[in-house]
Amino acid sequence: MSKNVLAISGSLRKGSFNTRLAKAIAKQAPAGTKVTVATLDGIPLYNGDVEAADGIPAAVTALKEQILAADAIVLVTPEYNHGIPGVFKNAIDWLSRADKTAIFSGRKVGLVGIGMGGFGTMLSQTAWLQVLRYFGCEVFTGALVTIGGANEDTIAEDGTVNDERAAKSVANYVESFTAWV
Ligand SMILES: Cc1cc2nc3c(=O)[nH]c(=O)nc-3n(C[C@H](O)[C@H](O)[C@H](O)COP(=O)(O)O)c2cc1C
Repeated sequence: MSKNVLAISGSLRKGSFNTRLAKAIAKQAPAGTKVTVATLDGIPLYNGDVEAADGIPAAVTALKEQILAADAIVLVTPEYNHGIPGVFKNAIDWLSRADKTAIFSGRKVGLVGIGMGGFGTMLSQTAWLQVLRYFGCEVFTGALVTIGGANEDTIAEDGTVNDERAAKSVANYVESFTAWV
């Protein structure tokens, strides 16, 4: 049976390296696996008063539906100040208010990232583990994608991986992650 994977980019930036990485993963999906790229566009800052008055925002519900329809998700995370970027954590916080158990409990999750720093988002990926453990997610641990020292050429806008080491790492990840799913 064919599998659906949702790769969620944690950056709102138009030229985002992490959105490019999500596209690279989608591009390399093997036959029988469809990878869809999702973004956080339109998700407002979490505010309990807004939730009480208006409920869950439409953009959060839309992302929730995409996750529920997927066999697995990949969090494609930037790293800010050695931690999780606020916009990404904010989106996950909203989702936890929408239906934490249905969305996350037992959910198969992969973690990858690309950044300009030397550790290639290792620290933000590690920080995510704490959140995913709380949710009871099943986290893929079979391979890592930690692309550091990134620049505009590392991955092209269309998801073509130009850097040789990064390309090997992404190919290996896609193969082992999709087999695991
Ligand atoms: C507020 C801020 C903090 C950052 N902190 C880190 C960091 O801790 N480690 C790192 O590798 N890059 C850091 N960077 C650089 C990011 O790797 C870079 O901006 C990257 O392009 C972000 O991902 P994106 O291209 O998907 O938006 C930081 C950037 C910003 C704006």
